[in-house]
Amino acid sequence: MTVAIRQIGPCFAGEVAGVDMRRPLEPDQVAAIHAGMDKYAVLVFHDQNIDDAQQLAFTRSLGEIEQAIGTSLRAASEYRLPTTFADVSNLDQHDKPFARDDRRRLFGIGNRLWHSDSSFKIVPAKYSLLHAVGLPSKGGNTEFADMRAAYDALDEDTKREVEGLVCEHSQMFSRQQIGFTDFTDQERQRFRPVRQSLVRTHPVTGRKSLYLSSHAGSIVGWPIPEARAFLRDLVEHATQRQFVHAHQWRLGDLVMWDNRQTMHRARPFPAEEARDMRRTTLAGDGPTAAQAAA
Ligand code: OGA
Ligand code: MN
Repeated sequence: MTVAIRQIGPCFAGEVAGVDMRRPLEPDQVAAIHAGMDKYAVLVFHDQNIDDAQQLAFTRSLGEIEQAIGTSLRAASEYRLPTTFADVSNLDQHDKPFARDDRRRLFGIGNRLWHSDSSFKIVPAKYSLLHAVGLPSKGGNTEFADMRAAYDALDEDTKREVEGLVCEHSQMFSRQQIGFTDFTDQERQRFRPVRQSLVRTHPVTGRKSLYLSSHAGSIVGWPIPEARAFLRDLVEHATQRQFVHAHQWRLGDLVMWDNRQTMHRARPFPAEEARDMRRTTLAGDGPTAAQAAA
């Protein structure tokens, strides 16, 4: 099948035809998908009625998997999915929605803040692939923002100011923003900050992008309040509607995004309803910045 892509967002995001994830990809399909990601940064595939093994096989045909270990508040005994999946659902291991005040649910609400996946890891994620297995009756869109267009639209002074800056990212910083602060000592150790460059250059297209994320909580060498206010201004700039595409989910949709070039956020939905979303993630190819000495 020939892969065809039609742009659906304001400056990015494409809808893909000609891919059936139940079958192995041909080499020219793999090349077309990578080229599509380089160009559109978000790709939407409809009607992919696949199981977890097929999602995993499709993901692996595009690169190396990033494991989801120790990145949520689920204990290993509470996993619903294997560690090759990030469980982005609101469901416990028995497929029941978490209670409204369940700590794991409240931690997951952090996904409603604009972020880039795994920016809290030294080697952050490349692509994320999210498959809709169960949807609520309303709400629950996912929004994407184009960080290349956001970079391009900065004024020259700001472009000079962000160049070379390094931020510290942690899941504690994103959760602090929504008042989730009761981390255990063990969690504080697990979620200790890592460093990321604030400006990234795409290895294929050479385009620059703002590497922002709710996980960013400081800028190396800056006073914290000034850094947070500056990052907040950048996020506000980068998420103006002309840089944003909202995806309204249908069952069987698989949406793939490039975390190096976009941010995304989940939108709310009724707490008592199930939203079964399963994410596979492709590993990035290295750190974006030198780390602080331990
Ligand atoms: C994710 C994520 C948003 C959503 O899968 O990484 O942030 O709408 N998902 O579930
Ligand atoms: Mn995410």
